[in-house]
Amino acid sequence: MISDLSALRDQILRFKEEKRAVILSHNYQRDEVQEIADFVGDSLELSRIAATRDCDMIVFCGVHFMAESASILSPEKTVLLPEQEAGCPMADMIRVDAPRPVRKKFPGFENPPAYVYPPEFTLKDIKGQYPGVPVVAYVNTTAEVKAESDICCTSANVVRVIESLPGDSVICVPDKNLSMWAARNTKKRVIAWDGYCNVHERVTVQDVQKARREHPQAVLMAHPECRIEVLERADHVTSTSGMLRFATTSPQHEFVVGTEIGLMHRLRKENPHKTFYPLRKDMVCPNMKKTTLQSILRAFEENTFVVQVPEPIRIPAKRSLDRMLEVA
Ligand code: 13P
Ligand code: SF4
Repeated sequence: MISDLSALRDQILRFKEEKRAVILSHNYQRDEVQEIADFVGDSLELSRIAATRDCDMIVFCGVHFMAESASILSPEKTVLLPEQEAGCPMADMIRVDAPRPVRKKFPGFENPPAYVYPPEFTLKDIKGQYPGVPVVAYVNTTAEVKAESDICCTSANVVRVIESLPGDSVICVPDKNLSMWAARNTKKRVIAWDGYCNVHERVTVQDVQKARREHPQAVLMAHPECRIEVLERADHVTSTSGMLRFATTSPQHEFVVGTEIGLMHRLRKENPHKTFYPLRKDMVCPNMKKTTLQSILRAFEENTFVVQVPEPIRIPAKRSLDRMLEVA
């Protein structure tokens, strides 16, 4: 194990060259992982790069569904996820097949009639209840769910994706918060699932009020995975890279950041004269933080962990991702 940081970096860069690899990092990764990556971005940007970049190998510093999407889009490339256990709990909140349908009306949902479904329900159940209604799968889903859906979306393009579809209703899985936010911004009826991100779900209206009191001059940005009552009180709602673009081009100097704290690194680095405060200091995604420089080096040395999707699932899953990339 190399403990010297610069030796570790040099070794990674040598492997990268030798294996014609590209290192991709999500905006939530550790600072040192973002620094060694060739590209740092949000889910949409990273899928685009994975689909188009000329290389033999992609080392994906993110969570499992992101590496899986890269492999779906570029099956000829070896896609490595340096930490096998780096998953997204929200992506596991929906399965294609399984038991018993139950449904409950979701109170306070203004775009009626929309329902949020409990976890024991499956994607096939909801499709059965709304035959012919197109399914939009957030990229934070498994390849199987993408394969069973009509189109994918990310937080950067959800409304545009929904509006690209025929008919007046869509099923949107698995994030209820993203779905509710989309419902507020489209005339279509959005049928939502009951999934959520535990990192963003923990933000409350009280956190927003506290941030407003402490930083009265600041612009408050929030990721659409936050609760709807938080989003309603934010000044700007957008994806992680959307926040970067907004903060960089805005004439304002202070920002409260309502997303995972990994984004603070780029915000501060790219805007050294502006000030950024986390909406909550504990907005930390433990799965995003699993990847370290040591795990990237191990990935190169041991060719771990290869992410690959069987062809009968990959082909329909790719169709859903391709449709999204065409629309967005
Ligand atoms: P972005 O696509 O905005 O980067 O979000 C991905 C994610 O997992 C948010 O929790
Ligand atoms: Fe999943 Fe939330 Fe982590 Fe994003 S921040 S990867 S949605 S658990």
